[in-house]
Amino acid sequence: MSAAMGDDDGAVVVSCRAPINMAVLKYWGKRDERLVLPLHASLSLTLHVDCMASSITVAPGPDLAGDEMLLNGTPCDLDGNARLQAVLQACRRLSTKSESFTRQPIRLECRNDFPTAAGLASSASGLACLTSALMTFYSCRESFPGEATTIARQGSGSACRSMFGGFVTWEKGSDDATGHDSVARQFVDESHWSDLRVVILVVSSGEKEVGSTMGMRRSVETSELLAYRAGHVVEPRMQAFKSAIKQKDFGEFAELVMRDSNQFHAVCADTYPPVFYLNDVSHAIIDAVHAFNHDRIRAAYTFDAGPNACLFTREQDLPDLLSSMVEAFAPDDAGDRPTFVRDPLRLCPDLSS
Ligand code: DP6
Repeated sequence: MSAAMGDDDGAVVVSCRAPINMAVLKYWGKRDERLVLPLHASLSLTLHVDCMASSITVAPGPDLAGDEMLLNGTPCDLDGNARLQAVLQACRRLSTKSESFTRQPIRLECRNDFPTAAGLASSASGLACLTSALMTFYSCRESFPGEATTIARQGSGSACRSMFGGFVTWEKGSDDATGHDSVARQFVDESHWSDLRVVILVVSSGEKEVGSTMGMRRSVETSELLAYRAGHVVEPRMQAFKSAIKQKDFGEFAELVMRDSNQFHAVCADTYPPVFYLNDVSHAIIDAVHAFNHDRIRAAYTFDAGPNACLFTREQDLPDLLSSMVEAFAPDDAGDRPTFVRDPLRLCPDLSS
């Protein structure tokens, strides 16, 4: 997370950039919609790539009638958006600046450097960025460790995990009255697994038909598989993930990643009416990765609430994986093809500092 302070005619201006994260143990379902308390814990890897991040500038607007927000240059309704208001009001409450500074209107300029709402985690980086920018702007002091992540969480659940680099957990917590113990924590930092590589295959940059918030609400209400997953699968799977990551056991890690993505999409299919986020190209990517892994596991796929694939591999297997994907989706193939994010993603540098 980068935050910079500038001085504009004597007024403080804060700029911040925040990265996306890719869940390997997916969050899907809330037990409290207002506080954004999850049904179960989740785990992700924070990814730093220049063309996939959110940036926000916050400036005082003493001349404005009220708070203003621009998203990619277009004005948006800040007052009527309950999630944005939850973040803004929480940061104003924690402000250590004078009351008159804290009360004055602000101008927010937000930018997403990638297609918004196409299952590429724009809400995660956007709301993490907003929280971080406002916490800096108001010189907020946390009243308990991890409080900033509980604020980001109320903007969008997955945003709390973008507040740190490396592998990050989001705890379920048990304090349903305040939600204070449903925090994100760094499990290992970005230097821990230095030969791990990530490639994103962009299958579609269109808006998804059923957003995550709506889709997961429907799953909570109707999916028996989600209830089973929350009660019986997630906790042992989290322990298995932690041990595979600690030991850098790629084969074990990769199988867990693929199984969790598959179960998440099975939950979506078990939802009534069902929600489908994968398309034919996504299914072809799944087949291509399993074909690539025919003798031993050297790559894993995972898909969030959209058709775009995120592939994990190790440095030594990256050239083979890329050529096998290029071959599987060759230009002379009559079917649709994904476009590759050209540079393998670098793991995020330390964001917690
Ligand atoms: C499939 O965090 O976008 O990406 O809390 O309603 O804003 P809200 O949902 P959101 O859901 C993300 C779901 C996911 C899995 C994940 O990131 O863990």
